[in-house]
Amino acid sequence: MAHNTLTRAVLVAGLAVGAAFSATAADTPKLMMGADAAMLGNTCAGCHGTDGASMGPAAPTIAGLSPDYFVEVMQGFASGEIPSTIMGRIAKGYTEDEIGSMAKYYAGKPFVKAKQSFDPALADTGAKLHDRYCEKCHADGGQSAEDDAGVLAGQWTPYVTWTLADYQAGDREATKKMKKKVEELMEREGSDGMTALLNFYASQQK
Ligand code: HEC
Ligand code: HEC
Repeated sequence: MAHNTLTRAVLVAGLAVGAAFSATAADTPKLMMGADAAMLGNTCAGCHGTDGASMGPAAPTIAGLSPDYFVEVMQGFASGEIPSTIMGRIAKGYTEDEIGSMAKYYAGKPFVKAKQSFDPALADTGAKLHDRYCEKCHADGGQSAEDDAGVLAGQWTPYVTWTLADYQAGDREATKKMKKKVEELMEREGSDGMTALLNFYASQQK
């Protein structure tokens, strides 16, 4: 766990340095006032990639999410209800209108699935577990953005891993029903089950 936290901090710190250049230019007050969503998005591109398709494992892809989920998660970061390394500070800098227009902008961009390694045998097991425990709300093998539940298929594995750890630690509150399913999964399949699920999400690259 300590190792995981350290890795996360190091990865994210690297991101912040890489993004500093693109962020400063876009952070000028002139842009913040009456800027359109594409211009606001320039600030995000350093970490989340052009049009929200993240190129690196430390930041999630944010294209193709449902606008409702996007708004909810930005509000959660800003209020501190959803734990974050970076997004809490960033989310506080935008008005409701600005977040709303970015949500629509990114929802209209395609979710580009990450190219990352996975274990095919574990991915097969994970597919079955996904159907049993997660498919109901994360439809289409976790590809669907409907039901405002985020996209799991093709999302960067470190991000999904940390997010699931936050739910399990109770740092991020899942809906009652999801909580129940995650607990059932852990009881019956243990952390091997979780690993299999992560491999299934990583295996979806098309
Ligand atoms: C310095 C890097 C960085 C910048 C700049 C950045 N983000 Fe993030 N973003 C992250 C990281 C890392 C996470 C994971 C949560 C955390 O640890 O903060 C994240 C998570 C998110 C999520 C949650 C995705 C999900 O599937 O739940 C959304 C939405 C998001 N960011 C939107 C934005 C928007 C919009 C901007 C620009 C206004 C932005 N981010 C700028 C690094 C960044
Ligand atoms: C009853 C519906 C439901 C079930 C079942 C469910 N989820 Fe969720 N899940 C949600 C909703 C709604 C959200 C979005 C907001 C929240 O509650 O945090 C979500 C969010 C997530 C996120 C965060 C996505 C992101 O982009 O940050 C992950 C990861 C996740 N679920 C994994 C799972 C896994 C793995 C399972 C199966 C073991 C599962 N969920 C089962 C409803 C569900």
